[in-house]
Amino acid sequence: MTDKFYITTPIYYVNDKPHVGSAYPTVAADVLARFYRYSGTPTFFLTGTAEHGTKILQSAEKAEQNVEEFVRENSAKFSLTWGILGVAPDDFIRTTESRHEAAVISFFEKLKTSGKIYEGQYEGLYCVGHEAFLKPEDLNAEGKCPDHATRPELVKEQNWFFKLSDYADLLKQKISSNEFVIEPETRRNEILSFLNQGLEDITISRQHVKWAIPLPWDKKQTIYVWLDELFNYCSALGYPDGEKYKQYWPADLHIVGKDIIKFHCVIWPALLEAAGLPWPKKVFAHGFFTIDGQKISKSLGNAIDPVELAEKYGTDAVRYFLLREIPFGQDGDFSVKKLEARYEGDLANGLGNLFSRLTTLIAQNLDGEIGEKKASPREFDEVNVMIQNLRFHEALARIWEEIAWANKYIDDTKPWETAKTDVKLFTEVIDNLAALLYEIAKKLAPFMPETAETIRSALSAERIVKAEPLFPRLK
Ligand code: ME8
Ligand code: MG
Repeated sequence: MTDKFYITTPIYYVNDKPHVGSAYPTVAADVLARFYRYSGTPTFFLTGTAEHGTKILQSAEKAEQNVEEFVRENSAKFSLTWGILGVAPDDFIRTTESRHEAAVISFFEKLKTSGKIYEGQYEGLYCVGHEAFLKPEDLNAEGKCPDHATRPELVKEQNWFFKLSDYADLLKQKISSNEFVIEPETRRNEILSFLNQGLEDITISRQHVKWAIPLPWDKKQTIYVWLDELFNYCSALGYPDGEKYKQYWPADLHIVGKDIIKFHCVIWPALLEAAGLPWPKKVFAHGFFTIDGQKISKSLGNAIDPVELAEKYGTDAVRYFLLREIPFGQDGDFSVKKLEARYEGDLANGLGNLFSRLTTLIAQNLDGEIGEKKASPREFDEVNVMIQNLRFHEALARIWEEIAWANKYIDDTKPWETAKTDVKLFTEVIDNLAALLYEIAKKLAPFMPETAETIRSALSAERIVKAEPLFPRLK
């Protein structure tokens, strides 16, 4: 294991509402944070919101709201949603907080002394949707950004630059040697082949973006929002002198979507290197959801609100589905139909049924009392390794093998008969089942904390009663 575990999610733009796409890495990070916390490792789990830049300002204007109020309200929607999804971060950073702004300024002052910052003229095609410059070859036939269907703005201005081009070799070396780990393999290869083309320098400031942090040595300019956002991972810990910063930096794991790997696997480590700070240990890029086969988009209005899902199916069912259906790292399709199939099959008929059968047998035949908890008759500790490797769907599938085994064990041993004919055998079967279900709940706790707690406290009660359904039938 590790002596501490610092895990982060992307910080989400507050122009958008939380949806199943942003819930995905957030729930995944929560599972890992709980896993490490439960195993006794000092753990810090950070998420938050990105609140600067033209995109946000324009959204506030469109909503006819004062920008400060707009970002506050929308950021609150994220923290509220994560709470409803059972996500328990140790901190929630907002890029408009003064603790963040002060840390970014102090980082940029340090960066300035690196000798890697220079002034120059920049000309490029800026896409507000991406908050990034695009290359002519990134555009579609109509000259528009293919992701946002908007024409990028031609920007020509005096800017400050960072000599990113100096870092291609170092990046290649640290990535090839796995000193800096990028997973999955496809993303690692994507970054390596990008690096093989050589790197261009990047601008670190903008002349006409008002809703951003001022560049400390040239107040006419503001800091490029992406660099401000990346630094959240350090500012939240109290960079440069905070105790948490000393304890937890560098990050053990940044979970990001595959859309933002260049920022996290190229620009971010190079900036840290220039400032003399340690690199994160690992970046894991997850895949993208479509919904019923279509891209999630504001214009299609097909975004699914995870709060509505949690209200209808329960928090743990949503968490389960997010991580069970699609291998983390691959693209996949999200649909309510598939969620309902998993709910009925895996949850109600699988785990729910097992729990209900067992508690009923104990309540009806043993007056609710079982003896000391025995060791689990089944061993499935490889689940822990699967979780550490972010193979969540495999971990869950493995746990469900045990649930299926236990349900079959009940069918085969017919305890409702042995209760009357062979009490010794009956008690042995029940003890095995109780010990196994207890172990299942333990392994499941990072994924489904409420369900695990319900099972464990029911089985630990002095008098076990016939349980309420864990996953009631859908109406
Ligand atoms: O990029 N499927 O913020 P963002 C799966 N502020 N994941 C999805 C998704 C989908 N359809 N849509 C979004 C930003 N995501 C920056 C990040 S970090 C220093 C700054 C997830 O609001 C995915 O993880 O656009 C993606 O990387 C992230 O949301 C982007 O969120
Ligand atoms: Mg985005």
